[in-house]
Amino acid sequence: MTDPVEHGPGRTAAAFQEVYGAVPAGVWAAPGRINLIGEHTDYNDGFVMPLALPHTTLAAAAPRADGVLRLHSGAVPGSVVELRVAELDPAAVGRAGGDRGGWAAYPAGVVWALKDAGLAVGGLDLHLDSTVPTGAGLSSSAALEVATAAALNELYGLGLDSRSIARLCQRAENAFVGVPCGIMDQTASACCTAGHALFLDTRDLRMRQVPFDPAAEGLRLLVIDTRVRHELGDGAYAQRRASCEAGARALGVRALRDVPYAHLNSVVAELADDPVTLRRVRHVVTEIRRVEEVVECLDAGAVRAIGPLLTAGHASCRDDFEISCPELDLAVEAATAAGALGARMTGGGFGGSAIALVAEAAVERVSTAVDRAFAAAGYRPPRLFPALPSEGARRLL
Ligand code: GLA
Repeated sequence: MTDPVEHGPGRTAAAFQEVYGAVPAGVWAAPGRINLIGEHTDYNDGFVMPLALPHTTLAAAAPRADGVLRLHSGAVPGSVVELRVAELDPAAVGRAGGDRGGWAAYPAGVVWALKDAGLAVGGLDLHLDSTVPTGAGLSSSAALEVATAAALNELYGLGLDSRSIARLCQRAENAFVGVPCGIMDQTASACCTAGHALFLDTRDLRMRQVPFDPAAEGLRLLVIDTRVRHELGDGAYAQRRASCEAGARALGVRALRDVPYAHLNSVVAELADDPVTLRRVRHVVTEIRRVEEVVECLDAGAVRAIGPLLTAGHASCRDDFEISCPELDLAVEAATAAGALGARMTGGGFGGSAIALVAEAAVERVSTAVDRAFAAAGYRPPRLFPALPSEGARRLL
């Protein structure tokens, strides 16, 4: 991970020139994200509420006339992955000696998804730098994809809007990289705006930018990266998706989004003989409701009131959806015990990061309490930093 202070378009352009011997045609940025509330609701057609982080992936790029795709990452200096656009298929990166799940599959997958959608994309030289921590549940993959897509969109005059970019990047990740993710991360990276959380309906990508400025309320939203690596491709995520789909089938709805919160009691009765599906369904239905409640609070200017909703969301992720882990639980417990207004895991789960909403005056106390709790449990020291609601994808140079 590059130091955020040194990270910048000039540096990324210079790195491009060093690798490819020419100046790039431009430099684009796409951010990582945290999700304020609405976990594992996106593939159930539900609501989510992410916000973009200041941490970004920068893509320096130049088009090529010969249909060759050259990919280089600042994280793996010296090794250029070379592919032919015409030959890209979901196994191409593997054949080129790369790892199908490795970093190059993400930009290659984006080129493939654009081409597969009938868009006229040609060759490209690409250099990527990132300050988004990887494996931390902060959407480093979506940032890679969206930065690449933003570059291609302009260089090849594709005329894609930010929703289409998000959809194509999700397709790249689903069909090329092989991760069955929903649409939240790519949409957050493509569409978030500074000073806002994105209230997103994942059914039709209708969205509203909801003002969210914790600092103006004397608050801070802390990210607690447990540094337990999470892997979305490892089967547990797909299992949760399958349970949700089974629940929707059992209840006779298109997606769990169509189960009204007011019907929860009858759902509990209907699924009584399948306690696992019942818990998965209950998480999704209550979590969608919590997104609406958080939006109501923010619309009313009651930022502090979202704290208990965040903590209730964590309990639901932990107990009903079973996607937490001891380190995330400890982060949430230690933060709330030390006075955080609310805390929860964020992202796919099974490791990664938690967030905590904390009054400015309590930031020191909460941070120390989390550090101490991790040390006492024998866990690696967590990494804490503030989540400032930041700008989505954009061109920098
Ligand atoms: C990952 C996926 C998203 C979403 C979250 C859980 O980040 O990429 O689509 O499902 O997990 O909310």
